[in-house]
Amino acid sequence: MSLVTDTFEQIFSQEMYLSILQVWPEGQIIDVEDGRLAGVLLSMRRSATQGRILVMAVEPQRRGSGIGSALLRAFLQQCAREGLMSVVLEVRVSNQRAREFYRRHGFREEGHLAKYYPDDEDATVMTRNVV
Ligand SMILES: CC(C)(COP(=O)(O)OP(=O)(O)OC[C@H]1O[C@@H](n2cnc3c(N)ncnc32)[C@H](O)[C@@H]1OP(=O)(O)O)[C@@H](O)C(=O)NCCC(=O)NCCS
Repeated sequence: MSLVTDTFEQIFSQEMYLSILQVWPEGQIIDVEDGRLAGVLLSMRRSATQGRILVMAVEPQRRGSGIGSALLRAFLQQCAREGLMSVVLEVRVSNQRAREFYRRHGFREEGHLAKYYPDDEDATVMTRNVV
């Protein structure tokens, strides 16, 4: 919770964490380095065929060292094991580095959601096939 909160200055309720863990524990991926949580990918199943990444965060001092890519690969493998066909996510239009990160991992920008975030910033919708 603190990694996500510190990264996004946005607080999800404890109930939300418990609920996604209960509904789809295999879709919640963490990376632990030296006994410390270094990265997290939280997700949900949007339908029988589509997964949705809710949030990805890597500890600031460990960014750029491959942890995010490893989390994403593990998540896509889990989606494939469960027969999901595609993955969708929303990202702030201003978050160029994350958009580039997802593009490099095969996501395409497919849409735009106006005033999606609480501060009225727009979101870019990105998707990719699982395999
Ligand atoms: C986006 C994020 C999860 C990627 O994880 P990561 O461990 O840094 O990713 P990797 O090391 O596998 O890949 C690095 C690439 O990610 C991109 N990236 C995005 N934000 C970055 C950051 N703050 N620092 C370093 N690289 C970043 C870069 O394009 C980088 O490519 P480069 O190495 O050629 O410069 C991570 O940087 C992060 O937590 N960012 C802040 C939160 C965020 O924007 N989340 C995504 C929206 S939900």
